[in-house]
Amino acid sequence: MQDRSPRPEDLDPIERASVDELRGLQLSRLKWSLQHAYDNVPQYRKLFDERGVHPGDLRQLSDLGTFPSTDKATLRANYPFGMFAVPRERISRVHASSGTTGRPTVVGYTKDDLHTWARLMARSIRASGGRPGDRVHVAYGYGLFTGGLGAHYGAEELGCTVIPVSGGMTERQVMLIKDFEPEIIMVTPSYMLAIVDEMERQGVDPRATSLRVGIFGAEPWTQDLRREIEERLDMHALDIYGLSEVMGPGVATECIETKDGPHVWEDHFYPEIIDPLSGAVLPDGEVGELVLTSLTKQAMPVVRYRTRDLTRLLPGTARPMRRIEKITGRTDDMMILRGVNVFPTQIEELILRTPELAPHFQCVLSRAGRLDALTVKVERRAGSDPAVAEQAGNDLVTAIKNNIGVSVRVEVLEPDGVERSMGKARRIVDLRRAG
Ligand code: DLL
Repeated sequence: MQDRSPRPEDLDPIERASVDELRGLQLSRLKWSLQHAYDNVPQYRKLFDERGVHPGDLRQLSDLGTFPSTDKATLRANYPFGMFAVPRERISRVHASSGTTGRPTVVGYTKDDLHTWARLMARSIRASGGRPGDRVHVAYGYGLFTGGLGAHYGAEELGCTVIPVSGGMTERQVMLIKDFEPEIIMVTPSYMLAIVDEMERQGVDPRATSLRVGIFGAEPWTQDLRREIEERLDMHALDIYGLSEVMGPGVATECIETKDGPHVWEDHFYPEIIDPLSGAVLPDGEVGELVLTSLTKQAMPVVRYRTRDLTRLLPGTARPMRRIEKITGRTDDMMILRGVNVFPTQIEELILRTPELAPHFQCVLSRAGRLDALTVKVERRAGSDPAVAEQAGNDLVTAIKNNIGVSVRVEVLEPDGVERSMGKARRIVDLRRAG
């Protein structure tokens, strides 16, 4: 794989600052952000007053833990524009996150916010190995989803040539990669797999394309999937994290020098980890729910937003900012089977260790009597022997029992048998309420 590390002189000054400098900047920005939220968003004023805290009470960063947290429900209750801290006319753009049920959550940006976002995405693409002049194929969806437009303006800001493909029409994705010869692709990891399968179907050698770097996010994915993608495509696979409520993609990004989990762009977002049940702030290094506070957002500041993503904070390596460990699950995606917690990523890891099985899968939950049952639907790899793949399915049952501690059924389907998504994969199909 090509060496694509950025030169130190190309980084933003804060990416080379000391941790002390960073903390100083965070403290002054955090004071501003809390005051801004309190003064301009009635919901925050109410929450702060109920808790008996005032922005002036924040003297050091750790005081943030005394402030109230917010979540998706807070945003939904103020649908659509109630969380905005500036007059509606100053909102340059809105995005919304697809609520699977009910109202979506709406987010807004001023012109300055959009510029900050573009700069943070440019920084993220550079950290992933992108350079001015690179061609960037954007296959994240364009529209209310933040992936497409977020990647688009970031790549432009860095000085790249953007190819705004959006998701879908997989055959055409392959044609455009062949013909336009992008160095970078930005897409969900699950849709990348669909694109590689399509390359192989068309007789295109995935290792021989122009692609050098893939910037993958919007859904959990494992180190095993990183290895699979890096090997099949002979390119670097980097993790990018973000969520619409906090900005969109580019809240945290992995650096190509170390590939050791996304660095949170802490000059704009302050991370905490809490115990999801008690809400208590946990020390760095302990696993819990990631909570984020915006430091510079004008249109829609977020204070202690509970992401539901489970991870832990680790010290900075390639940058002074702290890292989050690669996110392996959301509290929402946790399946509980006879008392054992199971995340789809744990299943993904074991599937990827089984050569006859392809990394396309779904976890189907049903109810057998009074107990929940899990069926893992997975495909055999194209070109594998069906009988051998069937045996691999049985081995997967054993591997899941031995490694995770739960009994499941595995159904090995023909290639293409598992539903493909153009964006975030649907890993869990819950039939329990229907039954
Ligand atoms: O998924 C923003 C995004 C777009 C991030 C493109 C990266 C790339 P939402 O639709 O609001 O925004 O979904 C946010 O997706 O809370 C996580 O649960 C999950 N997620 C996002 N990035 C990652 C990642 C976008 N790298 C929710 N690893 C988040 C694991 C991720 N989960």
